[in-house]
Amino acid sequence: MTRHDHTVAIIVAAGRGERIGGAVPKQFIDLGGRPLVEHSRAALLTHPRIDRVVVIVSPDQADRIADAWPIGGATRRDSVLKALEALAETGATRVLIHDAARPFVPDDVIDRLLDALDAQDGAVPVLAVADTLARGDTMLGEPVPREAMFRIQTPQAFRFEAILDAHRRWPDEVEATDDAGMARRMGYDVMMVKGSPVLDKLTYPADVAAAHDRLAMAMETRSATGFDVHRLETGEELWLGGVNIPHAKGLSGHSDADVALHALTDALLGTIAAGDIGTHFPPSDPQWRGADSAQFLQHAASLIAAEGGRIDFVDLTLMCEAPKIGPHRAAMVTRIADLLAIEERRVSIKATTTERLGFTGRGEGIAAQASATVSVPRR
Ligand code: CTP
Ligand code: MG
Repeated sequence: MTRHDHTVAIIVAAGRGERIGGAVPKQFIDLGGRPLVEHSRAALLTHPRIDRVVVIVSPDQADRIADAWPIGGATRRDSVLKALEALAETGATRVLIHDAARPFVPDDVIDRLLDALDAQDGAVPVLAVADTLARGDTMLGEPVPREAMFRIQTPQAFRFEAILDAHRRWPDEVEATDDAGMARRMGYDVMMVKGSPVLDKLTYPADVAAAHDRLAMAMETRSATGFDVHRLETGEELWLGGVNIPHAKGLSGHSDADVALHALTDALLGTIAAGDIGTHFPPSDPQWRGADSAQFLQHAASLIAAEGGRIDFVDLTLMCEAPKIGPHRAAMVTRIADLLAIEERRVSIKATTTERLGFTGRGEGIAAQASATVSVPRR
């Protein structure tokens, strides 16, 4: 791979999903709280060797997901060709072409494909056939030797110019198989690399249930904690859990000093080992003076989402003698659930005094402790 390679992934998501049926095409069905296509998009986007991911949808489905190109065509081949043409002048040197209907994309398959491109025009992930194969109609016919047979999956990887040329020169009267088959027919070399059973395509209704099971297995649970303290001072506003609370004193600090949101932000960042709040919003940076801590929390949530993760639960304990938290608890739950775009039942807020002991007991400050539980894709 040269330093100047610009690798783009195309996800084709413009089909009708007729064999699966249902109210929406299969690429948009809900899988773990997100449209199916978002799973492969996140997997490809987070791969370090992929620079850009474009999702192709049909013009009448443009509103189903964000940031998609509504240029899909009548056939899969049309959708791919339109995407390639749209990318033709963008400097792309390598392209991965992937079906939205294959939500799980292992990193190691992408690595094998891109490695193969160093020496070849194209590369495809394949799996050996395990079952005995035979021809037949209603009656069993001749066996077919399975040693020479492979199941072909996506993503398929190509030098950009090679696959664009193959698509452009493809004779319309010949039915296109997959992109690799087209490249091969047009004289390009395509190498087979080891695919993965998790790459299997959702084609029939039973595949949807299998995908839900697979998702559960493909995710790992992470939990992390966060802790923060701010000083209580007169003349400051009191922001706690994203809610403004009338009180004789308020919390002081560089931002709005919302100790609850800070502890929660650190807990969320911890689940993806992304440092702490100071890593992302240095207190030395004047732009965060008086800042609304809601943006810190939302940033942490967006980093988890970008990894394809989901926030399962957050739990907060506030430590102070005053104010009383109980009357504000419901408002804080609503605000935090809203900021994290999760249901209120996934947010827990508790409070305790410290029996008049220590700095919280003396009313000098408020402490907050948080824990967060998330599911992120295994990588
Ligand atoms: N695809 C596409 N444009 C088309 C047809 C298919 O982008 N005109 C995409 C599909 O969205 C899918 C992939 O190509 O991600 C593989 O196609 P397939 O599994 O056949 O999906 P559908 O055509 O949607 O399903 P069906 O054939 O059951 O209608
Ligand atoms: Mg189809």
